[in-house]
Amino acid sequence: CRLKGRGSLVKCLQKVDPFLHRNIGTDVVAAQEERHGCKSLYAVQAEGQEQAERSVLISCHSRTNEKKFLKYISRHGDIKKYFFYESYGLYAVVEFANRESVASLFEGAAIPSVSHESTVPFKSRLLSLRNIGLADSTNQQSGQQCQPQTPIPINELIQRLSKEESIDQQITSLRDVYQLTEENSRLRFLVCSLLKDIAAAYFPECTIKPFGSSVNGFGKLGCDLDMFLDLDGISGRNATMPKSGLSLEYQMKRANSERAVTQSILSVIGECVDQFGPGCVGVQKILNARCPLVRFAHQPSGFQCDLTANNRVAMKSTELLYLYGELDPRVRCLVFTVRCWARAHGITSSIPGAWITNFSLTVMLLFFLQRRSPPIIPTLDHLRDLAGPADKSVIEGNDCTFVSDFSKIQLQSNTETLEQLLCEFFEFYATFAFSRMSINIRKGKEQNKPEVAPLHIQNPFETSLNVSKNVNATQLDRFVALCQESSWLLQQSETNAPRGGSKGKASKPWGLATLLLPSQIAGIKSRKKRRREPASERIKSLLESLKNTSQQKKS
Ligand code: CTP
Ligand code: MG
Repeated sequence: CRLKGRGSLVKCLQKVDPFLHRNIGTDVVAAQEERHGCKSLYAVQAEGQEQAERSVLISCHSRTNEKKFLKYISRHGDIKKYFFYESYGLYAVVEFANRESVASLFEGAAIPSVSHESTVPFKSRLLSLRNIGLADSTNQQSGQQCQPQTPIPINELIQRLSKEESIDQQITSLRDVYQLTEENSRLRFLVCSLLKDIAAAYFPECTIKPFGSSVNGFGKLGCDLDMFLDLDGISGRNATMPKSGLSLEYQMKRANSERAVTQSILSVIGECVDQFGPGCVGVQKILNARCPLVRFAHQPSGFQCDLTANNRVAMKSTELLYLYGELDPRVRCLVFTVRCWARAHGITSSIPGAWITNFSLTVMLLFFLQRRSPPIIPTLDHLRDLAGPADKSVIEGNDCTFVSDFSKIQLQSNTETLEQLLCEFFEFYATFAFSRMSINIRKGKEQNKPEVAPLHIQNPFETSLNVSKNVNATQLDRFVALCQESSWLLQQSETNAPRGGSKGKASKPWGLATLLLPSQIAGIKSRKKRRREPASERIKSLLESLKNTSQQKKS
């Protein structure tokens, strides 16, 4: 089904479903068209890595003159792309057209001379621009435009959403505001590439790849940077040994288990990052976790980084989430919305604990979309059935096979709006039988819980594991109560109509914006103490009536 024009796509889809032209929304057709031309996650990763290798990160003085800077840097070769951003000072990311330019830049760079301290002589692509004796006093206005690397505050988001004209627009606007920008994404690849240079001191053929929300399409500006140290290129998992005759193999140090190897590699690289990594601070080695990791802050980018190794299942789940996000534009819009809603109410947190994680929340949303009638996205079992021989993947005994060719996936013609779906999502989980059932995106159907845990979400690939094992009953109750409240709020005509909206004046929160305001239900207020604007009397009285109704139901 290699398609070019829009008409041909409709025709092709009509062969599958002759009534499609009547049922399918234009947006859905457009999205499916896009899907046929969409890049695989591998292609995105490869492109990002390649760009990053040709890039450098330069700390600049706040009054750096953009023109002079570019003139100076371009002496080393053609610049393909550059941008400035602020994070504890001004930084520039410069991508050269060729890698040789980086070598040329290195040749002209000096080792800093410090009088009271000493430096580790490790040269990296993180540099500082010096401007000795040429203070640009004439140029107070330096002119560079900084690309934002952090999301707008929630209050600003609420105001912005209140100006939209429909809940559907609010939802897409939320996604547009929160999603990673192209520049932020480049910066993530660059930080991985800088880290790779450190790890390459031990393993020259290694790569470091971003995974999780940095690349799965659900990342919000400011999210952590999950990195995967990939040594598969070295260990030659796929190298074939000759069946007879002489051959050589490497002598290698042996350890008790793969886990022990991962721990020792991460321990040494973590130490190296700590001792020699420019800009890497607060390094913590968390080697006894189920998935051993090194956590640190990369100050020049402002990213909180988690470096893992031998974590190929997580790479697969990243690929799966990416695929689901590419299949239908409603998936990403709703994931961003539900993640934002959850964060606003303290259902998720940046601190590890008994809270629901963004990953769990995403799986819950995918499950809900599989349960629509007709389903918006297929089950994982269906994606596995569509897989070709090249897609076969078994990692540590877990079947991680699923189709990689997007064009093999036929979607059904569900045309529900974002507003309907958001409301139904809250309704679905407000009444879900959490006490008995497990959420399972492999089957696309709830299953009996295999073990006692307040919330059970089967890990899509390591099927004996519960993704939300950490969640306690209190946190699940808060989630359910907030789903009830939000579902109810969305069904009120007063919440659903744009309000205020006159030009120049601040609009009153309505629709999705209302859902992001602090909850009024006793006992489920956010854990975080924050400055709250007084909720309108109208919302208070609506919530009073909600409490009364639920008390009546109980009695
Ligand atoms: N992951 C997994 N199983 C888990 C937890 C995480 O497979 N129990 C994988 C998922 O692919 C996830 C990635 O590890 O996307 C990174 O985990 P995490 O940082 O917790 O989630 P993110 O999706 O990156 O979301 P966030 O923006 O909160 O970091
Ligand atoms: Mg993450």
